Amino acid sequence: QRMGMIACGLVLAACGKQEPPAPAPVASAPEAASAPAPAPAKVYTVGTDAAYAPFESQNDKAEIVGFTVDVLSAVAQKAGFEVKFVNTPWEGIFNALQQGDRDLLASSITITDERKQTMDFSSPYFDAVQLIAVKQSSKVAKFDDLKKLKVGVQTGTTGDEVVTKLLGKTSANVKRFESTPLALKELEAGGVDAVVADNGVVIHYVANNPGAQFKTVADSSFVPEQYGFAVKKGNAELLGLVNKGIADIKADGTYDKIYAKYFGNAPAAEAAAS
Ligand code: ARG
Repeated sequence: QRMGMIACGLVLAACGKQEPPAPAPVASAPEAASAPAPAPAKVYTVGTDAAYAPFESQNDKAEIVGFTVDVLSAVAQKAGFEVKFVNTPWEGIFNALQQGDRDLLASSITITDERKQTMDFSSPYFDAVQLIAVKQSSKVAKFDDLKKLKVGVQTGTTGDEVVTKLLGKTSANVKRFESTPLALKELEAGGVDAVVADNGVVIHYVANNPGAQFKTVADSSFVPEQYGFAVKKGNAELLGLVNKGIADIKADGTYDKIYAKYFGNAPAAEAAAS
């Protein structure tokens, strides 16, 4: 059938007559035989809370950009699929995966045992740790100093978890925000005394907002965290592709290049962790 159609296109005269299509000329046969077109790459919808520079944010054209986007795009290219990033508020991000509205989550998500019960994670692609942001004039020197203070966090993040643990579940001093930048804005406005969030985001914000006059305070009691991409529980097919892509970009230097673009130096820790 296919060859007939091709012949028809090539040999117009034969088609004009009400005759069965002429057999394809012998010369064109090998080409026609090798024709099965490669299946188009699958497009997966990726949920991203794009208020998390330098990992995921929106540029002035409202495109989602950042480290996460570069990493996952490289992973997808290696593994032969396509990704479409969709800005998805953190608040509803896990539900969007659960409901099937997103195939994949790429949002600087820390792999935790609790989250593992409701979704599957890729192998880790980034190391992180909590970091405290305070005004330069603050006397806060360690995490424990926050006990009696007002602390801003992004709702439902690992920062929220550690602060809630320190201040107590019912404490009115834990101030929860929809995004990490909103919490940091509130610190600038004086509505909270400190913000606890992922180090990469805090460092980026402090560096890019010198007018806010923040400083950062590290604390060795914060446990190391690792980011992973999340898929719906049981989606082994996509998870396999993502993990293969991660392994490939770590092996061939692509990951290091992306890391250096955003963070400046070679990611010895990440390479070792892989
Ligand atoms: N790593 C932290 C967590 O998993 C915060 C991630 C927030 N990501 C974002 N794009 N807002 O809880």
